[in-house]
Amino acid sequence: MKYQAKLTALSQATECIVIGVYENNEFSKSFNEIDLTTQGYLNGLIQSGELSGKLGQTLLLRDLNGISTKRVLIIGCGKKGELSERQYKQLIQNMLKALKDANIREAVCYLTEVEPNNRDLYWNIRFAIETIEHTNYQFDQFKSKKAEPISLETLIFNTDCQQAQLAIKHAQAIASGVKAARDIANMPPNVCNPAYLSEQARNLAEKSTALSLDVIDEKMMAELGMNAYLAVSRGSSNPAYMSLLHFNNAADKNTKPIVLVGKGLTFDAGGISLKPAADMDEMKYDMGGAASVFGTMKAIAELNLPLNVIGVLAGCENLPDGNAYRPGDILTTMNGLTVEVLNTDAEGRLVLCDALTYVERFEPELVIDVATLTGACVVALGQHNSGLMSEDENLVSELLNAAQQTTDKAWRLPLSEEYQEQLKSPFADLANIGGRWGGASTAGAFLANFTKNYRWAHLDIAGTAWVQGANKGATGRPVSLLTQFLINQVK
Ligand code: BES
Ligand code: MN
Ligand code: ZN
Repeated sequence: MKYQAKLTALSQATECIVIGVYENNEFSKSFNEIDLTTQGYLNGLIQSGELSGKLGQTLLLRDLNGISTKRVLIIGCGKKGELSERQYKQLIQNMLKALKDANIREAVCYLTEVEPNNRDLYWNIRFAIETIEHTNYQFDQFKSKKAEPISLETLIFNTDCQQAQLAIKHAQAIASGVKAARDIANMPPNVCNPAYLSEQARNLAEKSTALSLDVIDEKMMAELGMNAYLAVSRGSSNPAYMSLLHFNNAADKNTKPIVLVGKGLTFDAGGISLKPAADMDEMKYDMGGAASVFGTMKAIAELNLPLNVIGVLAGCENLPDGNAYRPGDILTTMNGLTVEVLNTDAEGRLVLCDALTYVERFEPELVIDVATLTGACVVALGQHNSGLMSEDENLVSELLNAAQQTTDKAWRLPLSEEYQEQLKSPFADLANIGGRWGGASTAGAFLANFTKNYRWAHLDIAGTAWVQGANKGATGRPVSLLTQFLINQVK
């Protein structure tokens, strides 16, 4: 879809204008203007009870007296001053549905006048576009019958403010990153394997001169001593590939990079510690971390952010097999620490620990890993907040700030040294699981042993990377949070 921002008269040559109305006789500016031109027609609708302004209400009017625009779509905005971000999202979706149902191709949106939770105009427009793009998303590649294309082609926001142009630009880049992340994550695991992840990375790298790709294959991993990563991959006949997207775009090309590391388990059956059958298909989403890193790299390349960023897609597959790694195995990781495997289903940390050691060579400014790491994180936080773990207070507040700005929510979980106690092994330096309690934190604590040489934060997205149920599918989270974090890094 196309988006524009320009000031226009209420009465104009477009198919439809969209205005908001509040409850309790408090009206938006455009509402009052139309009411005046139509000699109280809108007020009449309020008096008769046909129009309440309640959230969820939409009313499409045609051929209003004195208004040359053919249609006016009125959107209920609830009580003035009480609109939350979630309700604003709902209201944008209501607008979209009404415009689609009426087969409208171009509309001018005056909802720029509503202020959800005191957010500014920039936010209002950016969030509207992200919501629309998210709502219009379809993954029908494997359906014989494709979804019908939507009628709406152009949405014009009624403002000429500079911030609006920036909001459109940011929203479109983020939406395109989110879409890319959802597309790869939704892809079935017989298509999306580690090689597929690296092919996608190659395609992306070819589209931007600031992007280049490095792929580490299993032979190189063996030479580097990435034995934990390799152990996880051994049960699969799809070889592992770690793909590194280098975005070198800072004014000073030698600026230390920000590194994003994404868990890329294209399927996680649990290995010899096999998972139960129910919902196992959802473990195709165990590469959601890598997908979100990919989407973020796409977004920042489109925005041409003056930053150096490296995105790592740690591709691997965890299957049981005669050659698979076993519980009891002791692995020597790339940084020299030995790990006793007590559960082959705690594989994400084994792949990540070597990826996190590998990226030390870039002398990173900071490293953020993103991983569908633990069911325990979902138990703790549910499916609305990603788990954020870090001992770097500044990094925590910057990430929480980006989460707040985008509503791509995150909540901090502890990572203090006490959790290390649970990772003790009688035979090796570390065990790969920490027992029953605090599973998200013990997983984070495991990784902390491999991130001592740089600033680091860990995002557990096990609960947020996809939704279950009738609308099952990848969410593209936390592309929005990460891209916002990076936008904020531009000084
Ligand atoms: N990929 C899973 C985590 C997961 C589970 C994400 C369910 C989303 C939904 C991870 O590899 C895993 O299996 N973790 C185990 C760790 C346990 C063995 C310590 C878990 O959470 O059960
Ligand atoms: Mn697992
Ligand atoms: Zn996993």
